[in-house]
Amino acid sequence: MSNPAPVQYPVNDLIKNRWSPRAFSDKPVPKEVLQSLFEAARWAPSSNNEQPWAYIVATKDDAENFGKSLGTLVEFNANWAKKAPVLVIAVAELAFAKNNTPNRNAQYDVGAASLQLSIEATARGLVVHQMAGFDPETAKEVYNIPQGWEPIAAMVIGYPGDASSLPEPYQSREKAPRARKPIREFVMSGEWGHTADFAK
Ligand SMILES: Cc1cc2nc3c(=O)[nH]c(=O)nc-3n(C[C@H](O)[C@H](O)[C@H](O)COP(=O)(O)O)c2cc1C
Repeated sequence: MSNPAPVQYPVNDLIKNRWSPRAFSDKPVPKEVLQSLFEAARWAPSSNNEQPWAYIVATKDDAENFGKSLGTLVEFNANWAKKAPVLVIAVAELAFAKNNTPNRNAQYDVGAASLQLSIEATARGLVVHQMAGFDPETAKEVYNIPQGWEPIAAMVIGYPGDASSLPEPYQSREKAPRARKPIREFVMSGEWGHTADFAK
C-alpha cells in the first residue's frame, strides 16, 4: 500500500511517498539493502562532521536481539512492530569526540541521518516507521550502551504489508488521511509570528 502526501506545493516523489505505516510484510530485508540504507544515513550532514550517530540493528532471524529490541518498545508499538523484519535503535553521542564539550545538535544530526535512511528506503520500496515510544533506559541496559550515548528513537524497517490485516486502532490510523499544518503557519520572516510573503 502507498499513501502519498496530499501536498500543497510540488515536491519530489520520494518526499511525497515516504510515510510511516504500521502494516509490514514478513519479507526479510536483504543484507545489501541494509547496507545501502545505512550508507544513506552515513552521508547525512552533521555539525562539524561529527557524525554523532550509532544504530543498533536487530533482524528477525536473530531472535535474541530482535527480542531485546522489541522488549524496549511500549506495548502500543510492540503490537505492530513485532511483525516487521528489522528493528533499529538510533543512538546519539552527546559530546564532541574531539574535546568532550556538549554537542547541542547531536539529536538533530541523528534525526537527519535517520530521515536520509528513510528516504533511501522509500526509493527502494521499503518503509520506515520511527518511534519515540520505547524505553531508552532498557535499551542502554540490554545493549550495554556506554555513558555519553543516548538512545533517541527506535525504528521499524521493512516492506509494506496489508493494512486490512491490522487490528484496531491501528487499521483506522493506517487508512486516515495524512495531514500537516500549512506552510503559512510555520514559515516566518522579519519577526516571529509574521508569515513570509511567499508562504501566505
Ligand atoms: C521521532 C518520532 C517518534 C515517533 N514515535 C512514534 C511512536 O512511538 N509510535 C508510532 O506509532 N508512531 C510514531 N511516529 C510516527 C509519527 O506518528 C508519524 O511520523 C507522523 O504521524 C506523520 O506521519 P507520516 O510519517 O506517515 O508522514 C514517530 C515519528 C517520529 C519522527
